Amino acid sequence: MNISPQIIEDIKARNDIEHVISSYITLKRAGSNLNGLCPFHSEKTPSFTVFPSTQSFYCFGCGAGGDAITFVMRMENLDYVSAVRTLAERSGVTIPENTIISNGKKEVTRQRVLEMNKEAAKYFRNALFDPKYGSEAMDYLVNKRKLSTTVIKHFGIGFAPNSFGALHDHLKRLGYTDDEMVTGFLCGRGKNNSAYDYFRNRIMFPIIDVSGNVIAFGGRVMDNSEPKYLNTSDTPAFKKSKNLFALNYAKNHCESTMILCEGYMDVISLHAAGFENAVATLGTAITSEQARIFSRYTKKVVISYDSDQAGQRAADKAFNLLQEVGVDVKILKIDGAKDPDEYIKKFGSDKFKAIIEGSKTRFEFETDKVLSKYNINNVDEKIKASHELCKVIATFASDIERELYCRKMATIFDIPLQSIQKDVASILRRKVKEDKSKQQSELYRITSGLGDRVNPESASNIRANKIEEAILGMMLLKQEHMKICVERLNSDNFITPFSKKVFESISTVYKEYGKFDIGYIQDEFSVEQTSRITKMLAVRERLTKNDEETLQNLISSLIEEGQRKEDLDSFDDILSAIKNKKKTEKG
Ligand code: UTP
Ligand code: MN
Repeated sequence: MNISPQIIEDIKARNDIEHVISSYITLKRAGSNLNGLCPFHSEKTPSFTVFPSTQSFYCFGCGAGGDAITFVMRMENLDYVSAVRTLAERSGVTIPENTIISNGKKEVTRQRVLEMNKEAAKYFRNALFDPKYGSEAMDYLVNKRKLSTTVIKHFGIGFAPNSFGALHDHLKRLGYTDDEMVTGFLCGRGKNNSAYDYFRNRIMFPIIDVSGNVIAFGGRVMDNSEPKYLNTSDTPAFKKSKNLFALNYAKNHCESTMILCEGYMDVISLHAAGFENAVATLGTAITSEQARIFSRYTKKVVISYDSDQAGQRAADKAFNLLQEVGVDVKILKIDGAKDPDEYIKKFGSDKFKAIIEGSKTRFEFETDKVLSKYNINNVDEKIKASHELCKVIATFASDIERELYCRKMATIFDIPLQSIQKDVASILRRKVKEDKSKQQSELYRITSGLGDRVNPESASNIRANKIEEAILGMMLLKQEHMKICVERLNSDNFITPFSKKVFESISTVYKEYGKFDIGYIQDEFSVEQTSRITKMLAVRERLTKNDEETLQNLISSLIEEGQRKEDLDSFDDILSAIKNKKKTEKG
């Protein structure tokens, strides 16, 4: 523990979990708990549950769980201490500087990486504008890519010199360690363990968050060599699935509409042409977390992906994710150019403005696609075309939308509405069935402990692990239970290593402070582990038998289970002793 329990308690008391979570997602009351759509995975029916009585949350769909601190850690991509600080600031609690003792594990902090990135960005910028290093890069940007120096400066574009140590030496002089450079993804580690510059001879695009921090970089080659881009991987200051390129600028121009592109260069061209509401994902397909960012900033997103097949497939995925978060989604068809960057250069910004205004809904877009693929005057092709469009309609989550699209399709295809409705319904039924069996096998996998990364030994100790988790869950539910457990059990009674560790942490804190909160021990566990601990609690919350007698019985069962295991182990010993003896007798 590196923050005192008093402070944690104070912060948690002022940050009711219900309030914290509902500032990010919509929650609906369900009995004494609250439900909502999980922000950590993509879902259509709410399996995310908030338990006010224990100030915890758990998602029965993806297994994410924890308390208000964990929630902020996950949502804002922060480490434990930063999440505590964020909550403290929000509620006006001051944390005295000396109460936070580094526990040695997290030497490279988010703050240090951010400061280091700022220095690196400055270094890259200077290199670009220094003819000694940056003349070729400048020529590329200005003459080949037609960027003005104003735009280059606006985006803070820079250049990483063709050297294995230039940035490294510069940062070292400023007091940054090799560890920090490697963790911050500015350096890699060579064979002899020395750090070398990761970005070399590349145009550097800094990625800046809405608070103005340089959180990462994308680096592009100036020729056709591969890979075209290198990007910062996840660091203590950056998670690529949770950020968007140019959101720092777009956030001020996006109330009505945002434009989502694939590439950094598309976004830069669009901003330069006056479309300052353009953003891009960071070298990956859009995630549900990024979709939620859009829903926080805007009402409408126009997807403006590359016109090739890969771009169109990616657009489909983006469409679904954005629709799920409730923004109005339109899709742009770019004809005569490979991407928005090329389109603007070829046809100008007025033309681009016109196609933005004429952008289509997904249904219109898909209908056009199907109609251009098939000749519906031919019966066989008409059947194929109808089937494809029915499949598209079935992907819409809302009943009303499906109904309206069925009607539109009936008119376009001149087919009775009922036949279309029937086909769509049967596709939907099949889908639900498939989803269910997928969920069931997942549930089986989890309950049988197969593929359990948090507690691998649960698989070979299924019964014992169930008892352990029931006990730990009850301990977390009520302080009175904690007292009973600490009195009757010690960590040796626990059979699987993870349960043992959880019990140890809980009882150590409880013995020292006479009380317990999950917030006290979170820095000892990863977010996955915290999720598992909360799951134990969430499962108990759902059960009604949480009385003392049940707990006493569970404790006795666990002690017996341990005894049984000991007997079995010694039986194994005897068996192998006999076997060995036989062997030696034979030999
Ligand atoms: P593009 O190849 O379309 O690049 O990839 P671009 O940004 O439009 O650049 P130009 O116009 O060719 O110069 C789209 C995005 O995919 C990611 C980058 O984020 C890029 O902006 N990407 C692409 C990579 O991360 N790595 C690669 O090797 C290629
Ligand atoms: Mn491109």
